[in-house]
Amino acid sequence: MVRAIAKCKRARHLPPPRLSARPAGSHRSRGIPLLSYQHIYHAGNLADVHKHALLAAMLSYLTQKQKPLSYLETHAGRGLYALDAAEARKTGEAAAGIGRAEALFPPDHPYRRVLAEVRARYGAAAYPGSPLVAALCLRPGDRIQLADLHPQEFAALKATMAPCGADCRQEDGFPFALARTPPDPRRGLMLIDPSYEVKADYAALPALIARIHSKWNVGGIVLWYPILASGAHRPMLAELEAMEFARALRHEVRFPPARDGRGMSGSGLFIVNAPFGTAEEAGRLSTLFSALP
Ligand SMILES: C[S@@+](CC[C@H](N)C(=O)[O-])C[C@H]1O[C@@H](n2cnc3c(N)ncnc32)[C@H](O)[C@@H]1O
Repeated sequence: MVRAIAKCKRARHLPPPRLSARPAGSHRSRGIPLLSYQHIYHAGNLADVHKHALLAAMLSYLTQKQKPLSYLETHAGRGLYALDAAEARKTGEAAAGIGRAEALFPPDHPYRRVLAEVRARYGAAAYPGSPLVAALCLRPGDRIQLADLHPQEFAALKATMAPCGADCRQEDGFPFALARTPPDPRRGLMLIDPSYEVKADYAALPALIARIHSKWNVGGIVLWYPILASGAHRPMLAELEAMEFARALRHEVRFPPARDGRGMSGSGLFIVNAPFGTAEEAGRLSTLFSALP
């Protein structure tokens, strides 16, 4: 695990800090209504800890083989966040998230090493989004393709990730996923991390994942979803499980809602073609979450 981060030459090409929060814009695509989601309000929360820790572990397992990898992300966000920004402080989600969980990870865990690297480069308040977590786990010969549709989130993503060699597109993540699969190199992982502001995404995701899998049957496909009091995520999960994908793994952690009245009481990952070692790491994360102070 240590090895994968230590040999991440991409880190040397990271750009100067660009951490300020930016106002939301809006966009339309696939008939998507105006969206306002900004991950800066939630960066570093317990859902991010779950997603980013397992992502770092999976990529570290995959980089143990010398063959090059592709990493793709359909809903990439900014790539880099400032946890001392007014938006992050307003919700307090990072303080209740990575602020509580970090000490429970062993110092040589790939996620912890990414956090240390990001703080060394961008300052003590910096927190990596999933694209930067991935870049710091990958090697120079690996390929990164990222999409975010939101104009301002995309501009920030490009500023952070293009200097890491990432191909950044301001595109709708659903057609992006289909157009970019199978990727070259063929080995690799795709993260699908929607904001679920468009409720129709729950119904659309199983068919999307089935299509990606039929085009890229060796690819790891990682879907993040919220565990909601309303149960809105459940039909999607039932449909995904009925599809009986190869090496499918579902992992969930529970935690109290970040704020009163918030519906999210946990974080879930549904993984197709889970890399070797993912189930064991997921088990360690379950133990870690149950030990949260
Ligand atoms: C949950 S955030 C991503 C967080 C990121 N994966 C991370 O862990 O650091 C979701 C992102 O999806 C973007 N987004 C929303 N709808 C989209 C769409 N149809 N296609 C691509 N990106 C979209 C939003 O602008 C937002 O930045």
